[in-house]
Amino acid sequence: MLADRLRHIEGSPTLALAAKAKALAKAGKPILDLTAGEPDFPTPAHIKQAAIQAIQADQTRYTPVAGIPELRAAIATTFSRQLGHAYQPAHVLVSCGAKHSLYNAFQALCQPGDEVVIFAPYWVSYPPLVQLAGGTPIIVPTTEATGFLPDAVALRAALTPRTKIVVLNSPSNPTGAVLDEARLKALGALALERGLIVISDEIYDQLVYAPARHVSIVTALPQVAERTVVVAGVSKTYSMTGWRIGYALGPQAWIEAMSNIQSHSTSNPTSISQYAALAALNGDQQPVAQMRQAFHERRDRLVEGLNRLKPLRCTTPGGAFYAWCHVGGLGASAEAISAQWLEEIHVAVVPGEGFGAPGYVRLSFATSLQTIDETLQRLARWLSARPSAAATR
Ligand SMILES: Cc1ncc(COP(=O)(O)O)c(C=O)c1O
Repeated sequence: MLADRLRHIEGSPTLALAAKAKALAKAGKPILDLTAGEPDFPTPAHIKQAAIQAIQADQTRYTPVAGIPELRAAIATTFSRQLGHAYQPAHVLVSCGAKHSLYNAFQALCQPGDEVVIFAPYWVSYPPLVQLAGGTPIIVPTTEATGFLPDAVALRAALTPRTKIVVLNSPSNPTGAVLDEARLKALGALALERGLIVISDEIYDQLVYAPARHVSIVTALPQVAERTVVVAGVSKTYSMTGWRIGYALGPQAWIEAMSNIQSHSTSNPTSISQYAALAALNGDQQPVAQMRQAFHERRDRLVEGLNRLKPLRCTTPGGAFYAWCHVGGLGASAEAISAQWLEEIHVAVVPGEGFGAPGYVRLSFATSLQTIDETLQRLARWLSARPSAAATR
């Protein structure tokens, strides 16, 4: 009875795992949950206050489909400054989270027969978003040896006459890899040469740890802006995942098409959340710096700790809040290892299979230093109690 296009679509594995870990914790198990795809900080007070004010001022009705004009203007101003490209409000569509922005973009730009290049490890939702639009995801692997960074040589090798779109995600979920300017220039030049559309998911743009630096493809090669949709939002930057506000910036005709789709699905993003997002963009940015600093410290604690636990191994993520850890040396699949950790030591992580990269697990450091320390202790005990570890002693 179900529509054909749902044949390959399953629910998000990351959300499912997070739900399982939460349910076990609720049932009284001493779960250490490292599945989180969201900051663990409260939304900053001035943002919450703006939402309360919006309710009291009766900003509780439908808004324009593409978002309230003040918010579109604030997004255009912020991204013009950050990316060095002149965006006008007409180049901006506000949606119900960055995931919804991506959904609208694929629906508007992708059709049956189109191939969409996605580099693995990839964020779990890209392939289903492409398939829901009738497109075919073409998965191009990256390697640990090159920091999981996509490059133009691998992209060129994957191109066919049907390739229409390439998806970039920097900083990356799940690897934390941050694309440098040279690679972006080369990828952008190839997109121009072959007439490709770039969908650049930059949702973690503000969560980058020095000396890493976020660069957008639009900044690296300004001509690419004419064929690029930049996706970002308030979810990760301002700890606002539940408010559901994301945005897309791109050529006006594409934004209009995406807005038309939105007009027939969600009508508009929640009015109250839009006022909160406006306060986030226009207000004090100090809370973002504080969160970034906390994530930086947690990253170092987790990554250094994991690298002391042989045979685990972990590259240092330049951005986002995930450690991408190699578990291939443990002689079982990442799914099996994650299940064992959950059952035996109550440590919840996300196995790599859902990210198109078996052999790895994702550990979120959007959690306290105590949780990170306790996780490292439990993993150390688990590793030393393994039969193979005992045999080599
Ligand atoms: C790479 C990436 N893109 C987009 C999103 C979606 O963000 P939002 O919560 O704004 O829909 C996420 C959330 O996990 C993500 O990791």
